[in-house]
Amino acid sequence: MKRLLVLAAAAVSLFAANAQTFPGTKPISLVVPFAAGGPTDRVARDLAEALRKSMGGNANFVVENVNGAGGTIGVTKVAKAAADGHTLLLHHIGMASAPALYRKLQYKPLEDFEYLGMINEVPMTLIGKPQLAANNYRDFENYIRANAGKLNIAHAGLGSASHLCGLMWQSAINAKEAMTTIPFGGTAPAMNALVGGQVDLMCDQTTNTTGQIEAGRVKVFAVTTAKPLLGNKLLKDVPTLQEMGLKKFDLTIWHGLYAPKGTPPAVLAQINTALKLALKDPEFIKKQEGLGAVVVADKRVEPAAHKAFVASELDKLKPVIEAAGKFAD
Ligand code: MLT
Repeated sequence: MKRLLVLAAAAVSLFAANAQTFPGTKPISLVVPFAAGGPTDRVARDLAEALRKSMGGNANFVVENVNGAGGTIGVTKVAKAAADGHTLLLHHIGMASAPALYRKLQYKPLEDFEYLGMINEVPMTLIGKPQLAANNYRDFENYIRANAGKLNIAHAGLGSASHLCGLMWQSAINAKEAMTTIPFGGTAPAMNALVGGQVDLMCDQTTNTTGQIEAGRVKVFAVTTAKPLLGNKLLKDVPTLQEMGLKKFDLTIWHGLYAPKGTPPAVLAQINTALKLALKDPEFIKKQEGLGAVVVADKRVEPAAHKAFVASELDKLKPVIEAAGKFAD
């Protein structure tokens, strides 16, 4: 018993020593499970800047893009990484959609990670290549039906946000087989193909589509939120899918921050404190809102509420994905 107490005391002082020295000079790798230049990468780079500031300038965050398999390769890397606070994951709704799609997933979202807090919520837009022969949603849906089997829809891999949106929309308009799906390592490369006319359409986050829509390089047909984006100058007149008759269609992408299971509690507390400060950073907020995202400011910035939210999304998405009846493996 005396030996155990000595050990425990040693562990505690180690923790404390470790916490005091975190982050030290070693860089903190912020793993993004999608290609550079895409919407998730964009959130990560803006957040890394804000975290650098909120940690008093003595933390070196390095964004590491590890893409593939709808984001599950990057997530697996963090699940297996050293639990020392120097490897973090920034991921989105894919954290909740992957278990229903991948039967051989190498991680459990609720068991293999420490939750550090939610970051933002991002609406999605249904967009098409500039040459597409439709200029509003009605014409667009009729065009899809008239060209069933001849069109394709791009996405960032099975389980990605763009895939999930395409899956839900095609189910909602009962056009599951109307188009082939084309996977990319992220919606950044997919967007290049869309702007170039190599692919026909995509559903993607406003953080990646705003610039292209503004420049007229892609056409926008609808937004996926339950309510119209009245506060968004560019998208305020774009109809919601619900307004176009797709009852209950409501999809908003959320991003959160995670660490490997077993990361020291004091280190987690330090990162969560820095995150909460970063989410109040006016520059970060301005950048996010400029791209149609909403920075989270409710209890979900706290780890427990973040985890509870992801658990509820897991339950919500499972039947939606199973209804589509397509598994990734
Ligand atoms: C990305 O960053 O490329 C996207 O988040 C991918 C997606 O999930 O659609």
